[in-house]
Amino acid sequence: MCTYALALGLSAGACGQDDDPEGARALWTKINAGPGFRSWARAPGYATRRPSFTAHADAVEIWLSSEMVSALAPSMPSATPLAEWPVGSIVVKEGFTRTTGDSRKLVAVMEKRAGGWFWAEYDDGGESKYSGRPSVCLDCHDNRKAYSDWVYSFELPR
Ligand code: HEC
Repeated sequence: MCTYALALGLSAGACGQDDDPEGARALWTKINAGPGFRSWARAPGYATRRPSFTAHADAVEIWLSSEMVSALAPSMPSATPLAEWPVGSIVVKEGFTRTTGDSRKLVAVMEKRAGGWFWAEYDDGGESKYSGRPSVCLDCHDNRKAYSDWVYSFELPR
């Protein structure tokens, strides 16, 4: 069975879950269009690069598309509770090998489509390693399926 070491590309090929490389390429173009995702809002709790103690990388930065920002935006008197993130939501997570400096090793993305999340993980140059609905991603993120619609690092407004 696949371990996440494989997901990080440490042993390429064995898992083969780059099921939709064209879809991944289109998504890479989308998140890098114009000023790119690094001009997007940062996720709640991720104002700067933060150490990560999980499988992805040693440190992470997490960015949100405007659809997610609107869903999170507090309305008066409090945020409108949501059971899932709206279609069109995109979360981009950059994984780094160090907490400072230019050491990006991966970019992981979730895009909410009608019917569920599209998952992709790229190397630093934008080459997809995983795409579609890879079980390696789903098997870990499903811990958060009911709680925050698969998202780990922050919660649905409730
Ligand atoms: C071993 C568990 C695990 C696996 C496997 C995993 N993730 Fe994650 N993921 C996490 C955790 C935990 C976070 C929270 C941020 C952090 O500390 O890294 C996260 C965060 C993310 C985020 C930022 C949004 C969020 O949910 O917090 C994206 C995007 C993401 N992962 C995509 C992927 C993709 C794509 C794959 C498969 C290639 C994958 N993940 C595989 C545990 C995992």
